[in-house]
Amino acid sequence: MKIDEKRKLPIGFMDSGLGGLSVLKEAVRIMPNEDFIYYGDSFHAPYGTKHPDVIRELTFTVVEKLLDQGIKGLAVACNTATSAAVAKLRVMYPDLPIVGIEPAIKPAVKMSRGGTILVMATPMTIKQEKFQRLLGLYQKEAKIIPIPCKGLMEFVEHGDLNGKFLDEYFDEHLKPYLSDDTETIVLGCTHYPFLRPRLRTYLGERQIALIDGSLGTSRELKRRLGEKGLLQEEERKGSITIENSLDRKEMIDLSWKLLELPIE
Ligand code: DGL
Repeated sequence: MKIDEKRKLPIGFMDSGLGGLSVLKEAVRIMPNEDFIYYGDSFHAPYGTKHPDVIRELTFTVVEKLLDQGIKGLAVACNTATSAAVAKLRVMYPDLPIVGIEPAIKPAVKMSRGGTILVMATPMTIKQEKFQRLLGLYQKEAKIIPIPCKGLMEFVEHGDLNGKFLDEYFDEHLKPYLSDDTETIVLGCTHYPFLRPRLRTYLGERQIALIDGSLGTSRELKRRLGEKGLLQEEERKGSITIENSLDRKEMIDLSWKLLELPIE
C-alpha cells in the first residue's frame, strides 16, 4: 500500500473491555484529525485474573480483528495485555507501529518528594515479569507498593462509577496501604481512571496525586506514527468507531458515555 493511502487508515485500539477508552480519550485529544477503531473485549473480561497464555491468545484474536479492518498503528490500551503480549506482537507485526501501556511508575518516581507510591493494577499485571522489572528499576529510588485489585475493573464494565460499594472496595483493598506518607497512587489499569472522581472524594483532604499512563502512551503513539510519516496531514475532524465482543447496544452506549465523561 502507498504511504498516502496508508496514512488515511484508522488507528486501532484494544482493551479487555471499556478501560482503554481512558487512553483513547487522550489520543483523540492530541490527534483530533485521526480516525480510530476501538475494540473492547468485554465478553472475555477480565483479563487480569487469567493465565498469561490465555491473555496472549485473546489479545492476538482482537488484534487480528483490527488488522482485518485495516489499521496503520495499534495501541494496546490495557496494562495486562501489554505485559502478556506486546513483545510477541512486535515480532509478529514488525512493520506496524505498536504501543503498549504500563503502570506510570516512572513519572511517579520522577515527581516523588520522598513519599510512598502505591500502584493499583490487576493481579496479573503485577505478577508479570515486565512489571517486576519496572519495579526493580525504580525501587531503589522510591518506596513503591503494588496493590493487586481483583474485581475493581468490573465496576467500570458495568458503568458503576459512583456509589458506596466503591468506598467499601477502597476500605478493604486500598485503606490498609494508605498512610500520611502516601504521595501518589498510580492507576495501573486503564479502567481505573474512570473511578478517579470517586477515589478523589474517598481520599478527601489527603494530598495524593492520582496518575495514569494514558497521555504518555498517546504521545508515544503519535510520535511513532509521525516517525513513519503516518500521521494525517489534512485539517479534518476524525471519526471514532467502537466495537465490543459483547454484542449488546448497552456496551456501545456505555462506551460513548465513558469516552465523553470528564475524568480529571
Ligand atoms: N484494562 C486492563 C488493564 O489496563 C485490564 C482489566 C482486566 O481485564 O482485568 O490492565
